[in-house]
Amino acid sequence: MAILVTGAAGFIGSNLVRHLLERWPDRRIVGYDLLTYAGHLSNLADVMDHPRHTFVRGDVADRESVAKVFAEHDIDGVMHLAAESHVDRSIVDPMAFVRTNVVGTTVLLQEAARAWEGREGVRFHHVSTDEVFGALGAEGRFDEHTAYGPNSPYSASKAASDHFVRAWHETYGLPVVVTNCTNNYGPYQFPEKLIPVVVTRALAGERVPVYGRGENVRDWLYVGDHCDALALVFEEGATGETYCIGGDAEATNLDLVGMVLDAVDGARGAAVGTSRELIEFVTDRPGHDFRYAMDIAKIRAELGWEPSVGLAEGLARTVDWYLSHREWMEEVQGDQHREFTDSWYGKR
Ligand code: NAD
Ligand code: TYD
Repeated sequence: MAILVTGAAGFIGSNLVRHLLERWPDRRIVGYDLLTYAGHLSNLADVMDHPRHTFVRGDVADRESVAKVFAEHDIDGVMHLAAESHVDRSIVDPMAFVRTNVVGTTVLLQEAARAWEGREGVRFHHVSTDEVFGALGAEGRFDEHTAYGPNSPYSASKAASDHFVRAWHETYGLPVVVTNCTNNYGPYQFPEKLIPVVVTRALAGERVPVYGRGENVRDWLYVGDHCDALALVFEEGATGETYCIGGDAEATNLDLVGMVLDAVDGARGAAVGTSRELIEFVTDRPGHDFRYAMDIAKIRAELGWEPSVGLAEGLARTVDWYLSHREWMEEVQGDQHREFTDSWYGKR
């Protein structure tokens, strides 16, 4: 069996490729990625020469390139992660999100349906986010029955892609499965998302920007646990179903940033608490969703999955990883990223 992993050179994709090569000794993994500002082959360095791994550079919205991958690699499973993934960038450049997340997903669906006509034993797994459900207040959690209510261009584009996946199942009978997961963190996360932003800035002695008053809440999941859930849903999830995945680990941004900074201090042998002085409250993100939290009862009951790495342990591992991969942090931050960062934070 050959599995196409789109977005393979990104944060979750690269962790997933590594996880799958170990977990599935009889399957080939074909990584597919455009290598945008967020995708880097260095994320896959240790598996580039693996005998069951092939990497192909290509755009999910490029029909010819996608069709060629299906034809040349005899793909029978897709795990679709390629996306523009950063909410702040979606506010500045929403069309890039429509192109990759909506058009790209639809091209992939069409080419999978074409390649798999009349075939059994195939599966299209669409990897999505809890952000499609919108924002929660202080109470309640999202689950598989929550109505869609996306608020950012990013979440709107992911919601649209979820709907197209559903449509390809209902209309064309494509065997699909969808997962919606909460905020991930861990090794290889690009330094534009909150946790690696905090680590890189603290190491450089720069101010750590916290949007608004830091009261927004996210539910954090260690990336290794997400990869385990993805593989399990791909293997055992029921066709046409959605599974919600989460960390059962809510924290306000201010509490989380404090924990990360303390972990950085601890790992550097500095007095714990020193780096908290770097925290600066800045102009809030427009349309900032107040709270995300996931009810994981379905995946727990039906597939026996639950998170195994708690927040304190996961943050300690993550901070250690960043501290021992400082060249990686430098290498992945190209001009395009620095320009965006200067402009975005410059206005806050
Ligand atoms: P990421 O930005 O680190 O990686 C995305 C990858 O997609 C990059 O390697 C990039 O080069 C690639 N890509 C972008 N446009 C492409 C295109 N047109 N064609 C081919 N490749 C392209 O993102 P991530 O955090 O690893 O997220 C992966 C997936 O998981 C996304 O679909 C995201 O919506 C979803 N997700 C992420 C989180 C999270 O907290 N990070 C949570 C839930 C779901
Ligand atoms: P982020 O990592 O961008 O993930 P998402 O917006 O998809 O949840 O942001 C996580 C939370 O941290 C979110 O509430 C916004 C906030 N945040 C900051 O306060 N400062 C920052 O510099 C960033 C990037 C995010």
